[in-house]
Amino acid sequence: MHNGCLYRKCLKTYMMKFNNILVERKNALAQVTINRPKKLNALNSETIHELSEAFQTLEKDGDIKVIILTGSGDKAFVAGADISEFAHFSVEEGAKLARKGQEILFNLIQNLSKPAIAAINGFALGGGLELAMSCHFRIASDNAKMGLPEVSLGVIPGYGGTQRLSQLVGKGKAMELILTAGMISAEDAKNCGLVNHVSAPEDLLALAQKLADKIMRNSSVAISGAIKSVNANFEVGVNGFDVEIEEFDNCFGTQDFKEGTTAFLEKRKPNFPGN
Ligand code: COA
Repeated sequence: MHNGCLYRKCLKTYMMKFNNILVERKNALAQVTINRPKKLNALNSETIHELSEAFQTLEKDGDIKVIILTGSGDKAFVAGADISEFAHFSVEEGAKLARKGQEILFNLIQNLSKPAIAAINGFALGGGLELAMSCHFRIASDNAKMGLPEVSLGVIPGYGGTQRLSQLVGKGKAMELILTAGMISAEDAKNCGLVNHVSAPEDLLALAQKLADKIMRNSSVAISGAIKSVNANFEVGVNGFDVEIEEFDNCFGTQDFKEGTTAFLEKRKPNFPGN
């Protein structure tokens, strides 16, 4: 079963066909749903590759402005990387798993030019929370549980979790969550800045859509520059203030800027062309 039936009625299946994910769209909004509910949507290698392909396609699709990422069923967003796939891995295979995953999916989502919102509808553990943290922001249902339990399996987070959790909640809280391998509630996640909003499970996708609608009213070119500039704050060796100046400058050469400022002066709503 899928979440958010009312909302879903408006969604149309996208042309992409996958085994483990669903990609649907409604106008400029795309929804990607990880669809292995019997395995609590655990990320096996095929799912990671399918997600990578879906996000690359949506990135290139000029009609899509916002992407919502969620999990199928009412129990889990994603309960982690698929433990059965890496339990027998060697050191070399482990290194490859983390490096490739970060490169093809987690960093890809973080650096998308259009916003990705994670709608966490249940367990978001290990690779699942790492996936949600690679999105631009997160919302959660009030029954969601989040954590990075890797040390309880004798391993550490490998898809950027040690870095992104520290960035989002601060070093002390990240240390506690990672070292205890504990889970926190959606409300606690909101209190520490890991998620922005909490809703009833049945309202989660409608809330995601409402936020997406707000975003879509704005200039997609400016949004892409804003994402790049905020991300620059967390890149080693990059001066985020310089990136911001460069992105700010670029805006002045866009049709969106002309339209946005003209519409303001003419006291009307802007109709951004998106270039
Ligand atoms: N990898 C592979 N399979 C997983 C999985 C994971 N990360 N998380 C859940 N599953 C599978 C279970 O093996 C089970 O499969 P089965 O029915 O074929 O035995 C199915 O999903 C349902 O999970 P189950 O454990 O029976 O559900 P539960 O409600 O009792 O417990 C959790 C839910 C999330 C607490 C529990 O599944 C769990 O601890 N999962 C692993 C979390 C984790 O450590 N993630 C980090 C991985 S790096």
